[in-house]
Amino acid sequence: MKLAKRIENLPPYLFVEVVKKINAKKARGEEVISFAIGDPDIATPPHIIEKLCQAANDPANHRYPESDGLPELRQAIAKWYQQRFDVSLDPDKEVLPLIGAKEGIAHIALCFIDPGDIALVPDPGYPVYSIGTILAGGTPYYLPLTKKNDFLPDLASIPEDIAEKARLIWINYPNNPTGAVADLDFFNKLVKFARQHNLPVCHDAPYTEVAFDDYRPVSFLQAEGAMEAGIEFHSLSKSYNMTGWRIGMAVGNATMIKALKTVKSNIDSGIPQAVQYAAIEALSGPQDCIRQHNDIYQRRRDLVVDMLNSIGIEAESPKASLYVWAKVPEGYTSVDFANDLLEQVGIVVTPGNGYGKNGEGYVRLSLTITDAGLVKGLSKLAGWRDTKNKFKAKR
Ligand SMILES: Cc1ncc(COP(=O)(O)O)c(C=O)c1O
Repeated sequence: MKLAKRIENLPPYLFVEVVKKINAKKARGEEVISFAIGDPDIATPPHIIEKLCQAANDPANHRYPESDGLPELRQAIAKWYQQRFDVSLDPDKEVLPLIGAKEGIAHIALCFIDPGDIALVPDPGYPVYSIGTILAGGTPYYLPLTKKNDFLPDLASIPEDIAEKARLIWINYPNNPTGAVADLDFFNKLVKFARQHNLPVCHDAPYTEVAFDDYRPVSFLQAEGAMEAGIEFHSLSKSYNMTGWRIGMAVGNATMIKALKTVKSNIDSGIPQAVQYAAIEALSGPQDCIRQHNDIYQRRRDLVVDMLNSIGIEAESPKASLYVWAKVPEGYTSVDFANDLLEQVGIVVTPGNGYGKNGEGYVRLSLTITDAGLVKGLSKLAGWRDTKNKFKAKR
């Protein structure tokens, strides 16, 4: 059987070895606590589930949905954007519901990338930006996100010919995996850069609602001229703990939304309607669940960061997102350190290089671990010893 080159060109799955080790440890009856996955452990709020069940019982929702979603859902998304970000959207032309943001992120590449084209992609970054590009026959050009630049791409350092050749630029704030945030000033500069180079912007923003200490992330679409420059991907996955129901949205520039709708209407048949009604309830119903979830994540964030710092691992408190981006101690690679944590104390973290070359030197810890798991995990972490730097270790 001969596989297509586009499959062969995909980068290898970096976590295979870690998964093998976890399974071997579990098979020996050893306990493993995972900080690896960004999937909320808290249930979807009950009023949303109630709506989902009601809608599932209605035979009108048992049939094929429209691929551009219920008009009521597009209106609810537009209203939510207006209330949350003061951004006005035309529900018919500037809003497109998705089967989760991931689906739209992968498919938008088919709208803009022809074989041989370039997409500008953050490194480290959520892997689907580059995978989508590769599956469309294109090549990612990586924009390093470094601590020196507050994990924002340095737009001025992008070579002129690359900026001219590129067909898309990807950004993501609040950021996975670094937990970094971007302000309106950065988005304004990005719009200017994108318009100069006639470069469509895709801002992936599923974490705007997961924020701490009264910080409120902004939308890219609040920037001057952003509606002409690009679109924003959003999702109900992290805002309302709905990862399993698969629903998100793309909003913004009408030409880009129309192109994505064209691809999608030829590939999928929309989002199950009961899930769409649940999403309407989530966006239009009481919003206090967001604050309640953030209080939980904030408490966990503080415990995780304090523990890491107390065992000599540098990690800053993220203002938003579900992730702590921790520096690996001297003498370890990301994979070495992740392996060492697993072997010594049964803790799973994600090696930073899984998100790109510039993720080397870091590991990511997710805050979506149950409170009971967190207590166990932190006491295990407390027992970790830096054997490579034992003469330098302070304790
Ligand atoms: C940066 C980023 N974008 C998109 C997604 C996918 O979101 P969805 O569940 O809506 O497909 C994730 C999921 O972890 C993510 O971290």
